[in-house]
Amino acid sequence: MVKLAFNSALAQKALQGKDTGLVSEKDPEAPKCAASSSDQESTGRCLLTLLGLAFILSGIIVGAACLYRYYTPKRMYHGTLQFSEVSSGAAAEGQPYYLPRVEEEVEISDNMAAISVPPPRFAQGDPAYILHDFNRKLTAYLDLTLRTCFVIPLNTSVVLPPQDLTDLFRQLMSGSYSNYRSYLVQEDLVVTERVRDIMEMGFYIRRLCEGKDTYRMQHRSQTPAGIQKRSVEDCFTIRHFENTFITETRICSA
Ligand SMILES: *[C@@H]1O[C@H](CO)[C@@H](O)[C@H](O)[C@H]1NC(C)=O
Repeated sequence: MVKLAFNSALAQKALQGKDTGLVSEKDPEAPKCAASSSDQESTGRCLLTLLGLAFILSGIIVGAACLYRYYTPKRMYHGTLQFSEVSSGAAAEGQPYYLPRVEEEVEISDNMAAISVPPPRFAQGDPAYILHDFNRKLTAYLDLTLRTCFVIPLNTSVVLPPQDLTDLFRQLMSGSYSNYRSYLVQEDLVVTERVRDIMEMGFYIRRLCEGKDTYRMQHRSQTPAGIQKRSVEDCFTIRHFENTFITETRICSA
């Protein structure tokens, strides 16, 4: 709108200049944008207005781009994987028709995967949210019973990259894995220290864990000499999968 008015005002003046050989000081026909005491002043004002608009527009565009970075298209999946709890092959043939299974709801985008693990119906395990941040290379477990977050570096040999994870869940949902019998891998994690500044964990983990107690963890085997006492009360387990096998994550506070 402004630009059009501005252009027509200029065109008018150019025409007038050609006809009379001089440019009038005041132009009563000029639209609002140019209606001020001198032409130069009004032109400057119009340019300023345009510049302001350009600024606002570029602000909007940059803002949208920033938002898009964090809200990249997400896809939701649901998957169930059944597994044999007995790892030795002997009993495997005589399995009951019911196999234990793990169900998950997963939200996958280019840089993260958020997994919702409901409380298992016939097995041990806590309901939890698991967040894998592929850019920051971090994983956070939010135990919904304890309302506590546990953070550990992303284990890329367990967690498939986003595209492969998407493929796995597409296949699970299409029924390609309906006869597949998976297996269980156990990992033993232990809390090391409390996280004071949740900001350093990145956008996704901050969003998940803000306002909750948050701790760092490491694999138990990495702890010096394993002197720490194991007390059953201070541990909980989450069964989940980000691959074709189930991971049973056992988290202990000491
Ligand atoms: C990743 O997980 C596997 C299986 O639990 C384990 O053997 C391996 O040590 C882990 N790697 C890292 C870097 O923690």
